[in-house]
Amino acid sequence: MRKSIYTCQQCGYRTPKWLGRCPNCGAWNSFVEEIVEKKKKRVVKEKSKPLILTDIGSAERQRIRTRISELDRVLGGGVVKGSLILLGGDPGIGKSTLALQIASQICNAEKVLYVSGEESLEQIRMRAERIGATKDGIMVLSETCLEDIEEVLQDVLPSFLVMDSIQTLYTEKLDTAPGSVGQVREISARIQRISKEEGIATLLIGHVTKYGDIAGPKTLEHIVDTVLYFEGDKYQQYRILRCTKNRFGSTNEIGIFEMTEKGLVEIKNPSMFFVSDIMEEIPGSIATVVIEGTRPLVVEIQALTSLAFFSYPQRVTTGFSKLRLAMLLAVLDKRAGISTRDSDTYINVAGGISIEEPAADLAVSLAVASSVKNQPIKEKMVVLGEVGLGGEIRSVPLIEKRLKEAERIGFKKAMVPFKANVKKTEIEIVRVRRIEEAVSYV
Ligand code: TYD
Ligand code: MG
Repeated sequence: MRKSIYTCQQCGYRTPKWLGRCPNCGAWNSFVEEIVEKKKKRVVKEKSKPLILTDIGSAERQRIRTRISELDRVLGGGVVKGSLILLGGDPGIGKSTLALQIASQICNAEKVLYVSGEESLEQIRMRAERIGATKDGIMVLSETCLEDIEEVLQDVLPSFLVMDSIQTLYTEKLDTAPGSVGQVREISARIQRISKEEGIATLLIGHVTKYGDIAGPKTLEHIVDTVLYFEGDKYQQYRILRCTKNRFGSTNEIGIFEMTEKGLVEIKNPSMFFVSDIMEEIPGSIATVVIEGTRPLVVEIQALTSLAFFSYPQRVTTGFSKLRLAMLLAVLDKRAGISTRDSDTYINVAGGISIEEPAADLAVSLAVASSVKNQPIKEKMVVLGEVGLGGEIRSVPLIEKRLKEAERIGFKKAMVPFKANVKKTEIEIVRVRRIEEAVSYV
């Protein structure tokens, strides 16, 4: 008979019986079924013996390059053999398309198996034709039962495996529905084990639930080696591939793609993509340079202020922190005499990028000032600097790298913090000490 144990997702409390409420932490409906495997007699396997650290071969050599350079860079140089990668994102964002493109890129050198529980073989074939990925080297399986997939895997032994998607697969060992937390956990743990044992690089596709997680609260992220999120607006053509966990590389790289009628195309020069040509004519529009991972990116920040309908004015932001905006508005009011007390204020970072670094503070402040005065800035320039509570402009890291990127895409002028350490650059520099100085300059 099958033996199960139930674990509380909140506190880890275990019980042999399902309970509605956890007696330990009081959480409701938090128990998830897990299968208890019978203990086998242990034999020490060859690979369970410890090795000398320096004798172990480096994993670097065992990367599969996808030759999609945006993706390779995000992954830290390619897909590591035997690793499990989770690719998450909203339905319809392009996960299956990306997976098929990767498969088509590497199928000459590697044995590729694409398992789809979502689409029929004909649908996959049609997509492959559309994106030009009809290659002999890709094997396709339409199946949802994990036990059957495991059998196929043992037969085929691919070196690259795509599982599309984790929510459609189920294991016979659990009675719960596909996509439930218990199923998803059990399946990914088993795929993880097979991947490690057989050295298969596996790309696991997962839909983001309405709460924004992949199949429940952080269910999978600790099991897999790498977590990639595919983001972007479904109704616009660009997509951002973001890495939030990576056991084999850095986590703050992003890759930028465009969805075309022939699949995803890399955008190698993203800065051009995030600034519009007419920005210098619009009030409230300012360019700044953010660092995404190791790459500088010129982005356009737009602000709009308009008379508030209600006594409590609204602050709405896309791609920028609301709290940070509130602080900047207070500083503008107090130090530079620019009041938004009676105006609704909207901030939009063009292109769906979200800015976390304070280096964009000054640009946001000036965009607001420009919108309040309803005047576009005098000259086309990029603006860099962190704004302190006293209205002082503080220095930002990697300033030369940022200026170089601005220069590369055609900016002739930059506003930087007074103390910025800039030695050689072609671009004309305006140094500012305080917020009021910056406002009166533009
Ligand atoms: P898909 O990869 O099926 O999304 P996901 O697997 O994340 O659910 O992509 C679906 C969308 O992408 C769909 O709306 C159509 C669009 N698309 C293109 O615009 N061009 C293409 O070449 C392909 C294959 C899809
Ligand atoms: Mg899909």
